[in-house]
Amino acid sequence: MAILVTGGTGYIGSHTVVELLNLNKEVVVLDNFVNSSPEVVGKIKKITGKEFKFYELDLLDKEKLQKVFEENNITEVIHFAGLKAVGESVKKPLEYYSNNIIGTLILLEVMRKYNCKKIIFSSSATVYGDQGVPKYVETMERGKTTNPYGTTKSMIEKILEDLYISDKEWGIVLLRYFNPVGAHESGLIGDNPNGIPNNLMPFVQKVATGKLPELSIYGNDYPTKDGTGVRDYIHVVDLAKGHINAIEKLNKEQTGVYIYNLGTGTGYSVLDIVNTFEKVNNIKIPYKIAPRRAGDLPELYADPTKAKEELNWVATKNLEDMCRDSWNFAQKQNK
Ligand code: WQD
Repeated sequence: MAILVTGGTGYIGSHTVVELLNLNKEVVVLDNFVNSSPEVVGKIKKITGKEFKFYELDLLDKEKLQKVFEENNITEVIHFAGLKAVGESVKKPLEYYSNNIIGTLILLEVMRKYNCKKIIFSSSATVYGDQGVPKYVETMERGKTTNPYGTTKSMIEKILEDLYISDKEWGIVLLRYFNPVGAHESGLIGDNPNGIPNNLMPFVQKVATGKLPELSIYGNDYPTKDGTGVRDYIHVVDLAKGHINAIEKLNKEQTGVYIYNLGTGTGYSVLDIVNTFEKVNNIKIPYKIAPRRAGDLPELYADPTKAKEELNWVATKNLEDMCRDSWNFAQKQNK
């Protein structure tokens, strides 16, 4: 009885594997290291003191993927594997549709072949598009996505819903992440993208370690409390624990499609992040005000009520925890 975690050495995947192992779950991990590195396998084992099976493979390799199901009794899949850089997806749509969509279709075909019909999908608040209001709730229709990355998330949600309509034996949970930040308290795993980060916190981390000279704040003329963009930042460990609750929900319900926001319900501005990071870590983050970034919304944050009521899950870590853990991780990186 094993849980397969695709993309399990990535940022959110690795933190979720840690939580699963801490609960003595049998875990099988696969990853192709396109956005992570082999040493994360050892770091997960060091953090947890637990062993798990690992397969280096790409979901597009159907033969290798079938071998994973032949060699293990996979009962559920948590599906993280996918390309996730918004800007890159605009430049490389074919790679994003191939990797994210075809990869998922191959995974689902193999799951069906081995009668494994429980999946938790790593979705994103980006599927809402612009709803014209800051607070996002699951009853809203999926909106117009603004980049191929977001479109793949929206398409995969639709694929999974259609799959359930065709075969009611499937149990499917769609988890819509808001803005994951922070790192495990050990500082051994965290958000460490190669190159110039797209996202705010890893960029702040690189400025804090001197790897980048200053932060560009994309616009301070938004209709928000201080003019900078507001988002719902959620600690990655809280996010990982939400997957545990989702597995419990699937084991209880067995079948159906369930959609949940994983956010704190609180919005913080870019300046809140900078000021809090500086305060808790006693460090200066040089920044300049730059033009708005195309596609950015002024303000968005989760209504987390449904996950609280149906998953019995609430984010517990605050912004100071997020900033402290991000800095702790950044200091331990050699990048
Ligand atoms: C946050 C705020 C920026 C960088 C994206 C994806 C979403 C999800 C999370 C995967 C905004 C500002 C940022 C910088 C800045 N990804 N910012 N300077 O855009 O809310 O969401 O990442 O699931 O799908 O869309 O996150 O961290 O890029 O931006 O001022 O160098 O920080 O304008 O207000 P975003 P972000």
